[in-house]
Amino acid sequence: MKKLAHRGYSAKYPENTMVAFIKAYEQGFDGVETDVHLTKDGEMVLIHDEKINRTSTGEGYVKDYTLEELRQFNFNHKTYGYYDIPTLRELLEFIKGKDFMVNIELKTDVIQYDGIEEKVYHLVQDMGVEKQIYYSSFYLSSVQKIKALDKHNYAGYLIEYSYKKKCNELLETDLNAIHPRYNFLNETRIQFLKSHHIQIAAWTVPNLKEYQRLKNLGVDIIISNEYFK
Ligand code: G3P
Ligand code: CA
Repeated sequence: MKKLAHRGYSAKYPENTMVAFIKAYEQGFDGVETDVHLTKDGEMVLIHDEKINRTSTGEGYVKDYTLEELRQFNFNHKTYGYYDIPTLRELLEFIKGKDFMVNIELKTDVIQYDGIEEKVYHLVQDMGVEKQIYYSSFYLSSVQKIKALDKHNYAGYLIEYSYKKKCNELLETDLNAIHPRYNFLNETRIQFLKSHHIQIAAWTVPNLKEYQRLKNLGVDIIISNEYFK
């Protein structure tokens, strides 16, 4: 079972910053989960929200700024210190050559960034880190595009609501990875998914009790803000 740090080691460091990713590696996580959006000039940047308001000193949509413009703001999540918004390339440079995974969530459920799937895929391939990547998205079309680009890609369908309906959608495709909110998962559902050879990633696992329950039930990936042993 792999343990991934949700938005980096976000229990202790500002989410989706290079510091949060590096600290996750140092803490002993097997990898990180992160969220990718496109800037006005087509750069792949790592941030959870479509807007920069919550996590930075700026305001407005990521898509309305160039990378250079975004670099004027402090992404310290309104705490202390100075943190640039990271690019996907910077994170991939950090993991290259390390035994460390990245779950790249394509944030396309609200804004469908034109060509983001191809851009992310080609960067991953060009950097030669494809064996270290789990792709995922709440937007089924993005998950399917990633799988269509290369059948070897790990492509997980994220589920936050309507578990049964979305699970059925997944079963109608050739996808074989599901990323449900942790509390959708019980023994019956996990056994069912396993009998269909579907890999399971649970998020965002909130405490040690849930971590142990899901580990014992045999999920493949646990995504959490905090590090559990
Ligand atoms: O990928 C798991 C989790 O990150 C999905 O929810 O809203 O934190 O991106 P969210
Ligand atoms: Ca995410």
